[in-house]
Amino acid sequence: MTVVINMREGVDERKVKIAARFILEGKLVAFPTETVYGLGADALNEEAARRIFQAKGRPADNPLIVHIAEFEDLKRLAREIPDEARLLAERFWPGPLTMVLPRREEVPDVTTGGLDTVAVRMPAHPIALALIKASTPIAAPSANISGKPSPTLAEHVVDDFYGKIEAIIDGGETNIGVESTVIDLSSERPTLLRPGGLPLEEIEAVIGPVEIHPAVRGKLVDVARSPGMKYKHYSPNAQVIVVEGPRERVRQKIAELVKEYRSKGLRVGVMATEEYEADEFFHLGRTEEDVARNLFRALRELDKRGVDIIIAEGIEERGLGFAVMNRLRKAAGYRIVWA
Ligand code: TXA
Ligand code: MG
Repeated sequence: MTVVINMREGVDERKVKIAARFILEGKLVAFPTETVYGLGADALNEEAARRIFQAKGRPADNPLIVHIAEFEDLKRLAREIPDEARLLAERFWPGPLTMVLPRREEVPDVTTGGLDTVAVRMPAHPIALALIKASTPIAAPSANISGKPSPTLAEHVVDDFYGKIEAIIDGGETNIGVESTVIDLSSERPTLLRPGGLPLEEIEAVIGPVEIHPAVRGKLVDVARSPGMKYKHYSPNAQVIVVEGPRERVRQKIAELVKEYRSKGLRVGVMATEEYEADEFFHLGRTEEDVARNLFRALRELDKRGVDIIIAEGIEERGLGFAVMNRLRKAAGYRIVWA
């Protein structure tokens, strides 16, 4: 049985209490954050955390992010809090930033995938914060079946988990649309493990240069530090192809590819920031922020419309564009066409 809890009008304390009770009972509750929907369970309850992995079909070595509502909570989870972490928390929490820190024993192995570190973030969404405050730190991966695009609407969570989890809080569309930026502060040099909703440039403005883990660029080396990087990700059923290069050439190339695939009898979808002739078209908006917000929804919707191929227009890699291109290239299984 899954209850869908409507909170589209904002936080409703009475409903929050019901959802918090589920969490404290070891049950699964999907909830909105400012990035994407999360599939939540009590982070300190081993059995509850284990259920997240089962529901998602997530490999056990891919650790979960623990969501907190107050900086004080971090001290219960992390053994050491380096100065950089304090600075970043002060500047960007609540917000789309996840920090990997040395963990305390109290955090179950299931939650951390057996690593000696724990990933923590304080989400900037009133419903998420209210739910955590009313319960406990909440472990929550994105609320999608493993390998599928992350959910930015409660409908997406319903599609993947209806009947499999206890509750889904509907808080409307998430604002940022790509997951949090993950930065490892547990080793010598701050290292970016996943570009996300907080642009790297903003982090570097506070703590100076950050190393970029090679796997972020698609090179499969030393994946042990963030096991999530090695798995298939964000893939709809249709084959995704990303077209990258100078704008004018990208435009021409996409038009050519649409013709070519259609002539082979395939149904072609295009997702882009300008209009194209295709069997199905999804307008991503104009700005980087629009593209980030619409990206996962576009992948899911074009899939529902039954296309065989999705051609996605690449955007510049700065700001949120870094996260967008990271997700798109993964969704495409690194099938990239250079225009
Ligand atoms: O925006 C977000 O971060 C969303 C919302 C729900 O908060 N959550 C999310 O979780 O995207 P998930 O599980 O889909 O992605 C978590 C990423 C994975 O790539 C995982 O490998 C990495 O964080 N991660 C978690 N714990 C880690 C750790 N201790 N060390 C290194 N990487 C870790
Ligand atoms: Mg995920």
